[in-house]
Parts: sequence; C-alpha cells; structure tokens
Amino acid sequence: MTSQSIISTPAADSPFALSADNSYRRWRDRKLADQPASAEDLMVEVADPLSLTAPEKDALLHRLRRANMALYVCPRPTAEPKSVVRTVAAQFGLGRLDFHLCAEDEGITPLQVTDAGPRRRYIPYTSRALNWHTDGYYNAPNKPIRAFMLHCVSDAEDGGENELMDPEIAYLRLRDEDPDFIAALSHPAAMSIPANEEDGTEIRGEIAGPVFSVDRGDGSLHMRYTARTRSIAWRDDPVTEQAVAAVTRLLNGRGRDVLRHRLLPGQGLLTNNVLHRRAAFHDAEDGGKRRLVYRARFFDRAEGTAYREQSSQDVAGPDQQPTVQVT
Ligand SMILES: [Fe+2]
Repeated sequence: MTSQSIISTPAADSPFALSADNSYRRWRDRKLADQPASAEDLMVEVADPLSLTAPEKDALLHRLRRANMALYVCPRPTAEPKSVVRTVAAQFGLGRLDFHLCAEDEGITPLQVTDAGPRRRYIPYTSRALNWHTDGYYNAPNKPIRAFMLHCVSDAEDGGENELMDPEIAYLRLRDEDPDFIAALSHPAAMSIPANEEDGTEIRGEIAGPVFSVDRGDGSLHMRYTARTRSIAWRDDPVTEQAVAAVTRLLNGRGRDVLRHRLLPGQGLLTNNVLHRRAAFHDAEDGGKRRLVYRARFFDRAEGTAYREQSSQDVAGPDQQPTVQVT
C-alpha cells in the first residue's frame, strides 16, 4: 500500500462524515453484527507461522476485517520470533517498519524489563502497567502508525494481560453518545504532545493532531490517543473535555467492547493499531519465567482491511467463516 497523508475531513459519502447519516447507519449495523464476543473469537491456530496456509491467512484476515485485530496461536514456541514477525507481517502487506528510538536494527523491538540504554526511560520496558493508547500517538501527523504486531516469546511469572478495543467501536460508541464528541476529537489540534527532550536536547518537537482522522487514500478511520495525563495537552474547549471524559468511561467499561487476552509463548497479535493497555506483571528471579514480547510497528494498514477495500466487496458473514480450527 502506498503512503498517504492522514486528513481529518472525510469524504461526503463516508460513514465517518457526520453529515452522512445513512452511510454511518449501514456501516454501524455491520460493525455491531460482526463484533467479537471475546478475544477467543479472534484466535486462529496456525501450524507454522513461518509458512501460513491460505485458510489460516483467510481466517486471520476475516478477523482483522471484523475487529481490526487477530490473534494467531502456534502449537509450540518458535526459535525464530523475529522471522515470525517479519513473515506474518509480509503476508498482510506490512513492510514499512517504524524505526523509532527504541527499536533494534531490524525495527523489531523486544519488550522486556531492562535497566540499560535509552529504553529504561520508558514504561513499556518496565514491569509496570501501561495505560490505554494507540501506538505512535506522538508521531507526526504525516507518519501515523497504522498497524502493529506483538509476538510473545515468554510470558511473565504472573500478570501482563492485554486489554484491547477496536478504534471503530470506540468511534461508534462516542458518535452514538454525542456526534459533537466526534467533531471535537477530529479537530486538528485536539491532542498535543510536548517536545521530547533528553539531557537538554530536543529529540522530537511538539506534535499536535486529531484523535480521529480519515485516511485520504483508503477511507479508513485512524485513531490517535493516549490516556496519559502528564505531558499531554487537550484542546481547551468544553466539548473536548466532555469527549475525553467519555473516552475514559468507555475504555474503563466492562462490556464486550473491551477484549482481554494474556499472550502466551508462540502467540501473536496482529492489529490495525487498536487501542490497548497492558497490566503490570511480575518476572521470576533466577532463571524463571520472564516476559519477552517482540513488537513491530508499521506505517501501513493490513492489506485487504481498509474501508474502501471492504466496502467494495462482501465480507464473509458469521456463517461463512473460513473453516480453520479456532482455539
Ligand atoms: Fe503500545
């Protein structure tokens, strides 16, 4: 897929245009009909992630289309986790990796507790809980992260569960509550992240942008969000304040909108940059279980899952799902 800039004004007939009520209703009905009941609905057992079969790939794609995320479950942990990430990603057209501050040479980042190097400054590399966010919320608006993958090599002694929410479900719930929330969160200055400084040197300038935007190229909804309350500035506006409070309520809800899964060795998550958070975890001492999850971020969205790609073809209904064993 080609690089496209993100804009915050959708086309007139887009379901994400506030004036296009009929289009929104059609999209909304299908979205809710397809909504998974739990993370188990996202799971696809794959015999060898380094060589996905066509039915396995179709099953993953089907889940990505429904929920913007899918979980693959391998029968045994692989000895080549980075190869799995690269290979599975390539199957979905995900090739343009984000080489950010903490990525290794290949652009694939080990998420594990570390006390050394630049990673030690960031919560993902500790055992602490990581609150709701989409990846790359601090990226420049013209370099959005559209997809990310997690691949688990080792789980922790305890903890480390992920919670996940499809940004399209978040959009739908907020729009149903009050369309003005969507308008406020689509403002180009809705959410600002101050400059990142290290030892007095600015390594990233201030980034301002919308929470919700629509991709000019493929018509897909994009969400940029963090629940952090420090080092972030929301647009000073009463409706924005109410909208942010509504997002917080939504993300802390207990219904089926929030999916929960604890990644085990050999399992992986493939997503169009869904909202996610991680519970705190505890690593064992002296040779016991220590959490290691590889992460890769991409500038592309998974191939075949963009709004325009889906709206131009029928998505298989629940009774037409590919026949792959689901665990
Ligand atoms: Fe993340």
